[in-house]
Amino acid sequence: MINPAPSSQISRNLISPKIGGLWHGGDYNPEQWPEEVWLQDAEWMDLANVNVVTVGVFSWATYEPSEHQYDFAWLDRIFDIQRSRGAYVVLATPSAAMPAWMAQKYPEILRAGPDGKRRQFGDRVNYCLSSKVYREKVSEIDRILSKRYGDRDNLVLWHISNEFSGACYCDSCRAEFQNWLQSRYMNSLDQLNCAYNNRFWSHTYSSWDQIGIPEGDYGDTSTFGLLLDWRRFVTDITVDFMNSEIDAVRKYSSNIPITTNLMGTYEGIDYAKMAEDIDVVSWDSYPFFCDAKPGIDEWVANAFRHDLMRSLKPGNPFLLIESAPSNSNWYEVMQLKRPGVHRLEELQAIAHGSDSAMYFQWRQSKGSAEMYHGAVVTHSGGPGTRTFDEVADLGKELLEISQVAGSKTCSDLAIYYNWEVCWSLDLSKMPLRDGLGYLSTALSFYKHLWERGCNVDVICRLDDLKSYKAVLLPMAFMLSEQDSQALRKYVAEGGILASTYLTGYVDEHLLAHAGGAPGPLADVLGVSAEEIDGLFPGESVSLEWCEDDCALMQCKAHEICELIRCDTADALAYYASEFYAGKPAATVNAYGKGKAFHLAARADKKCFDAFMQAVMAAASISTSICPSRSDGLSVRTRFNEKHEFVFLLNFADKPVDVDLKKDGCKILRSGQPVNGQISLGRYGAEVLVREL
Ligand code: GLA
Ligand code: ZN
Repeated sequence: MINPAPSSQISRNLISPKIGGLWHGGDYNPEQWPEEVWLQDAEWMDLANVNVVTVGVFSWATYEPSEHQYDFAWLDRIFDIQRSRGAYVVLATPSAAMPAWMAQKYPEILRAGPDGKRRQFGDRVNYCLSSKVYREKVSEIDRILSKRYGDRDNLVLWHISNEFSGACYCDSCRAEFQNWLQSRYMNSLDQLNCAYNNRFWSHTYSSWDQIGIPEGDYGDTSTFGLLLDWRRFVTDITVDFMNSEIDAVRKYSSNIPITTNLMGTYEGIDYAKMAEDIDVVSWDSYPFFCDAKPGIDEWVANAFRHDLMRSLKPGNPFLLIESAPSNSNWYEVMQLKRPGVHRLEELQAIAHGSDSAMYFQWRQSKGSAEMYHGAVVTHSGGPGTRTFDEVADLGKELLEISQVAGSKTCSDLAIYYNWEVCWSLDLSKMPLRDGLGYLSTALSFYKHLWERGCNVDVICRLDDLKSYKAVLLPMAFMLSEQDSQALRKYVAEGGILASTYLTGYVDEHLLAHAGGAPGPLADVLGVSAEEIDGLFPGESVSLEWCEDDCALMQCKAHEICELIRCDTADALAYYASEFYAGKPAATVNAYGKGKAFHLAARADKKCFDAFMQAVMAAASISTSICPSRSDGLSVRTRFNEKHEFVFLLNFADKPVDVDLKKDGCKILRSGQPVNGQISLGRYGAEVLVREL
């Protein structure tokens, strides 16, 4: 049985009604192999409990070997083979890589690099985003696929293109950018000049066609508003390209959900916008892209990305649509996953709201750029190899825990993480030119909550905050009037807000707020930021945190010290060295029925934890099902009408004992009751279930 039927008693939010359990499978490139291999694949997929394959991601040259000459027989057969084993197909559109004949015949479809020159044919994601010819070609093949496969009963999801990314710097894209600016500024160059503060360095434009693409090798690098708009434009033109594909696919297939595979915290596209136009969020998770041996922090960052991706479609599960079964060939060091780590990594995704464990890729390719990327079936074989057997064991376990599919995540806490804020910080580079650490600041909040076992939403919008007990606002440098209104309302109605240094400096044009920071949030935070001090590496400033019994806890700040004045707020900590000794470094302000905390310095862990304890106490948030700890154990929960699922994940390379605070837990895969304590081995994990 590879697809448990959906249970009729419990209402579940399944990604597709066709699959009642968790999805297990991944990218499959049969066109690189002869038919006898497809049959062996099918047999081995049965052994690995694979119930879904993603096909066609880079198959255009196989579908259409020359213009308007098509060959779909192979894909028909793949659908049939998978159907006969009761498995489903995710069908990708092939736009991420064009065929060579097309590039030769229509060279204008090739992408131009930042130097404005068209690239030669090769690689992938190699197309111009504005080329009408390319869009027509893509729509044509997408319509053909939709007509041919839209009614297949084992088609379960459309996968638009692959990892949209980058930009094109050709003249056509430049003209599109100018058109986009015209409509954004309602045909008024005065408005644009004013929004960009263009009297600076004599940058005033007198005609739209004077505007170039910034950021490219020869483009302007100093007009922040223009640079920000270019990034917004790249998102919009990419979403527009994606939507032209969605329209084509919908032509003959209107009831199959649509996704495109996202990349977590990839900075090039505002995924909050992209997610509005897809039905299902899916993403490719490769957690160890670091140049040192990965540790707990990489897992914490991966957890954060899962929560960010899930929160793009609140209340819905997402798909982990790609992950590496062993190593990734593009890591600095291609370390194999240690035994057990594969299961842990995939269960982590499910703990955070994924309804799948899917891989890149099923069978390792014989040559080219990814021939040494990990795969379920490697050059050396399938069943009996370590990787295959771990994947197969996980496939079996996913069947045993299939009840989790379609369950929800509930969080009392939200961290605000927004692409435009990220870009505004990146452009302003203030007060550290080498990078301000937006993500790492968000992660320090996140890690604190991770250690307490709290569920967290990572939200990109501030328009629906009422369900949260606390909203954390790391470095919200860009805050519009509208954002501030939403936060004001939230706190006034009883919410707890916690912001940091670099909050509320600029508006949506990257222009400084009149009166300085925190701009329109000044009354809510009850402070004014007067100056901001950047510290050199290794430098620190002393802080004193005022404890409840009036004792002073000695701490340190590094890198960023904002000098604030309390208007209506009370100080929780003070600077204790430098010329600003005695000024407040952390504050709390009562506003309406709620409270707003502000941390003005990049404080050490001791101070940060004290700050967070104050925030969590104000929000009355208790820790999860087991006491908080910082040894690599992560606790997350999902629930449905009848059950709470508790995921215990041990990311440490040594065993841990976990004391459970709640009774009535059972191990989901075995039904065995757990009382009081449970032991997890090195990289061990267990999913528990409790009746609600
Ligand atoms: C990405 C792509 C895949 C493959 C993997 C390799 O996620 O979508 O096609 O290249 O990377 O890690
Ligand atoms: Zn272009």
